[in-house]
Amino acid sequence: MDQLQPISAIEALSTTRAIRRYTDEQIPVEILNEILWFASRAPSGSNRQPFRFLAITRGEVADKVKSLLGDSFRRGWAAKLQHDGYQSGSGIDPNSPKSRQAAAMQHYVDHIEQVPVIVFACLVRYREASPTEGASIYPACQNLLVAARSLGYGGALTMWHQGVESQLRELLDIPDNVAISACITLGRPQGSHGPVRRRPIAELVFENQWGSSPSWAIDPDGTRFTSAGPK
Ligand SMILES: Cc1cc2nc3c(=O)[nH]c(=O)nc-3n(C[C@H](O)[C@H](O)[C@H](O)COP(=O)(O)O)c2cc1C
Repeated sequence: MDQLQPISAIEALSTTRAIRRYTDEQIPVEILNEILWFASRAPSGSNRQPFRFLAITRGEVADKVKSLLGDSFRRGWAAKLQHDGYQSGSGIDPNSPKSRQAAAMQHYVDHIEQVPVIVFACLVRYREASPTEGASIYPACQNLLVAARSLGYGGALTMWHQGVESQLRELLDIPDNVAISACITLGRPQGSHGPVRRRPIAELVFENQWGSSPSWAIDPDGTRFTSAGPK
């Protein structure tokens, strides 16, 4: 394994992005433990820690889970490909960013069976499902992704487990009071993380009034932007 150069929290936050291409390298259990330990440092309401991380690694059950997920991810992406117009407009040009993104997604869903580790981020419900219940699980998911990035790995948070959720629940004995809040794929990135692209900060930050961008909302030099997002 390459010697890991430590990166600062600030660098990790500004470079953590969805990683969907992995090498064949497995994640050593000590590292997986470390990633999940950092995930479990996340805050939750009243420090109840309702988050549970169900790691799918290797073996017979893992193979079944990955096979179920493979079908579901491919269906999920096929629907998104149609719905989000990936094959129209600039998507016709095979070298456009849109086409490259579509190719990366196709590669991702075609290789789910080979993903080294998949983590189901689960929430043990202690009251009726509410619009804010994610507040006690998604900070842990982001901690997980940032920790993976910091340790030389990468991941993608997805919702494409939903197409096979009932089969997964049965196979993995997940109780009814537990929500599967996300399905996170993890591995060693193939290539670099690439820049995170977002909308200009002035479009995302307001001061004292909705829609009023403050003069101090300025992206640092070198920030990369995306055309995706709020119009
Ligand atoms: C709530 C949520 C749901 C997501 N669902 C999926 C998904 O189902 N499939 C997928 O490939 N990526 C999914 N993503 C990853 C986003 O597509 C990705 O974070 C976003 O496009 C920004 O890209 P970046 O992280 O590389 O900057 C999801 C991310 C979030 C936060």
